[in-house]
Amino acid sequence: MPTTHRSTATTHTALTHPLAALVGADQHVPLVTGGTVRYANLDIAASAPALQAVADRVAEFLPYYSSVHRGAGYASAVSTAAYETARRSIGAFVGARADDVVQVVRHTTDALNLLASAVPGDVVHLDVEHHANLLPWQGLGDRARAVTARETVALTLAAVEAELARTPAALLAVTGASNVTGEILPLADLVEIAHRHGARIAIDGAQLVPHHRVHLERLGVDYLAFSGHKLYAPYGAGVLVGRRDWLDAAPPYLAGGGAVRSVTVDHTTWAPVPARHEAGTPNVVGAVALAAACEAIAALPDSELRLHEEGLRDRLLGALEALDGVRTLQLWRGEVEAIGVVTFTVDGHSAELVAQYLSAEHGVGVRDGRFCAHPLLARLNDGRTAVRASLGLGSTADDVDRLACGIAELVAHGPAWTYDGEGRPSPDPRPLPAWVTETGAGTACA
Ligand code: ALA
Repeated sequence: MPTTHRSTATTHTALTHPLAALVGADQHVPLVTGGTVRYANLDIAASAPALQAVADRVAEFLPYYSSVHRGAGYASAVSTAAYETARRSIGAFVGARADDVVQVVRHTTDALNLLASAVPGDVVHLDVEHHANLLPWQGLGDRARAVTARETVALTLAAVEAELARTPAALLAVTGASNVTGEILPLADLVEIAHRHGARIAIDGAQLVPHHRVHLERLGVDYLAFSGHKLYAPYGAGVLVGRRDWLDAAPPYLAGGGAVRSVTVDHTTWAPVPARHEAGTPNVVGAVALAAACEAIAALPDSELRLHEEGLRDRLLGALEALDGVRTLQLWRGEVEAIGVVTFTVDGHSAELVAQYLSAEHGVGVRDGRFCAHPLLARLNDGRTAVRASLGLGSTADDVDRLACGIAELVAHGPAWTYDGEGRPSPDPRPLPAWVTETGAGTACA
């Protein structure tokens, strides 16, 4: 195995389809040791780069950007039509039923908070969810019922079923794919279990939708939430797609203009969905971008996309598991379908140091932390932080090999540079772009 990213390995397996092209695919980044290297972005699960098709659509739209639902000018007519067309495209991408609503929100967290404000009864969820699919339900107090995930998928499904059978619930809310281990629960089985016990089902699709096609009508899923910034459309929009009756009966998510039918000084008659929950000027650029991403991904051959990601995931897992002292995290025993997300630890090195080292010495971007999934990390890693590598459309075998070789080198020799007590390179001679003035180190959602 070559020992550094300066190796001659050049096996690129990036999808070559023109619609898979990404903005910044050849971005170079500085190394602490001097020079630059092509950025190996293995942090796609946190935020994915924009598809070129998305950036092109946004550029095409921007000259018309204007008020939505409230202007008489031609540009307003274009903006309003673009916004409503986006809603239809996004719904079509996920196989929404004819009478489903597509609510444009900020991201998955926003979508699930909106659903929490509308659910007319108890909610059952697993204890290993991302905080986006945990905290909105926690806010419901004793109407939220957490089921402890068991050691296999089959036992976990049985535990969910037992809870729904014990006391009826209005909603079963589950993650489509874990943002920590990439593992996927069988959606068709969950739908069947929920409906058999009179509950609806909501899927946190933040990680699943960018990697696997989901069809609400065919699967029988009632609600699906996902984010543009994980679907190669980082322009600030996400969606909640699904049944409209609960949302029509719910109090408006945000009180303000655009969500109303009529207003007097002391009374408001609210509009039905989707306007009801979209007060204020909507994010039309974000919606247009998200729709463009949906259209581009729908046009990519699904099998090609899956083979690409599965091949790279297997390559990454194989390389990491061959290294002494490297442990990959897995929630369920046995063969479990998964997206391209692999989380691991390296004996003798903090996750913070490993992630900073990969960036500083190898130009590899990964995430370290507890991934907004503290209960899951408590279970899998005694609450300690770990390192996550995540793959997507632009990922290549070179990226994976560079990470694996970097970890092999770390295990064998330790880092070549010096790092401070928080694992940050010290000194750090890498310049930021001239227009960025703050280092911006942050710990949000560690
Ligand atoms: N939810 C995103 C992640 O898993 C931010 O990294």
